[in-house]
Amino acid sequence: MEKFIVHGPCKLKGTVKISGAKNAAVAILPATLLAEGKCHLENVPDISDIRSYCKILEALGAKIEYLSKNEMIIDNTNVTSAIASSELTSKFRASYYLLGALLGRFNQVQISLPGGCNLGARPIDQHIKAFESLGATVEVRNGNVYASRKEPLHGNSIFLDVVSVGATMNAILAATLAKGNTVIENAAKEPHIVDLANFLNSMGAKIKGAGTDTIRITGVEKLRQVSSYSIIPDQIETGTFMVAAAATKGDVLIQNCIPKHMEPITAKLIEAGATVEELGDSIRVTMDQIPNSFTVKTMPYPGFPTDMQPQICILLTIASGTGMVIENIWESRFQYTDELTKMGADISAHGSTAIVKGVEKLYAAPVHSHDLRAGAAMMIAGLIAEGDTEVYDIHHILRGYEDIVEKFNKLGAHIEYVKEDDKHD
Ligand code: EPZ
Repeated sequence: MEKFIVHGPCKLKGTVKISGAKNAAVAILPATLLAEGKCHLENVPDISDIRSYCKILEALGAKIEYLSKNEMIIDNTNVTSAIASSELTSKFRASYYLLGALLGRFNQVQISLPGGCNLGARPIDQHIKAFESLGATVEVRNGNVYASRKEPLHGNSIFLDVVSVGATMNAILAATLAKGNTVIENAAKEPHIVDLANFLNSMGAKIKGAGTDTIRITGVEKLRQVSSYSIIPDQIETGTFMVAAAATKGDVLIQNCIPKHMEPITAKLIEAGATVEELGDSIRVTMDQIPNSFTVKTMPYPGFPTDMQPQICILLTIASGTGMVIENIWESRFQYTDELTKMGADISAHGSTAIVKGVEKLYAAPVHSHDLRAGAAMMIAGLIAEGDTEVYDIHHILRGYEDIVEKFNKLGAHIEYVKEDDKHD
């Protein structure tokens, strides 16, 4: 069994460099399927979700040359299969991007129903609606999604009933090579959507308006190879280090990030009493007081990201007064609060709201990572707690954070990765 042991408390101090964005990379990797020739990608995060995606692409016939830890050339010329129905595909959510990408290239596509973090119901009705609007037929049966088309997809108007990152990405992927014009209304505006559109445009796609709620796509016949594309820095990894710096009353310079993407998190940290300085592509976070309490509501971008909700909640556990967390995206994103209670936090979560009364200290306890971001929150809780916090189910954390132990330890934390009886830093 794997676990992290976080020896607390500590003050984080120093410099950390942010890796490429997981949620951009998991769309850009399948997007390479639309191109003829090779795609050279840089700043690809070295995380288990990406390693899984590479295996899925290789099983479909892709040739991947790894130039370094964060750089690869993907050649999809010999991809002849559009059946991605495996244990691996069903393990993580972002495998659904294979549907949009493969539908652009093949008449019949089959993938396993996507898995991923357990955050409550995760329907794909809006993805299906988008594919059907473009002329595909989609069926879900026996744990698989089957999508087919009798002729090339055709452009259309797609109005998404809910603002969905995944459905927006999939609609873009499917519409890129469709005949004619597509307009996606009520589109999601997250930075990773803009990154996907920029990547596809660098291959010759005609996508306008990504980052607004109306995206217009003029279908093109084919895409060309990409000599080099660098994935944007990870917004959520940046936010995780920003919150960790503030929670430990530290002083951290976070490099290789995009401060504009961080505005909702920056605003909350300032409300909590931290100092946040934007310095080009870096952000410095310092904190020298007990955090003020605050209310945070998760919203689609540019609102406060749901993927930062568990981490920011750690600040409230040690804040002066009572704060509130309102989760508007996922129905089961408060499972981690039971773990924090074991550490002495005073939280009551019901439905979409958690009320958090600040306490003087958290104390170490064995805790579980219920999902990727909850796991990161457990690590931050361990950094501020008295004693040695054991964090279990760390495979969730390793799905999305590159070198997380090394990065925290370089900032002065003392975290051990332990596998069975075999202990090493
Ligand atoms: C993406 O998931 C992210 N995953 C999630 O991050 C993130 O929490 C989420 O967007 C919201 O920002 C990836 O990018 C791989 P949605 P996604 O479709 O695309 C409802 C992480 O930790 N909905 O934007 O699956 C849905 O139930 C992960 O990195 C429908 O009703 O999320 C939810 O309430 C966890 N029908 C809301 O929309 C649909 O067809 C937003 O979901 C699709 C979604």
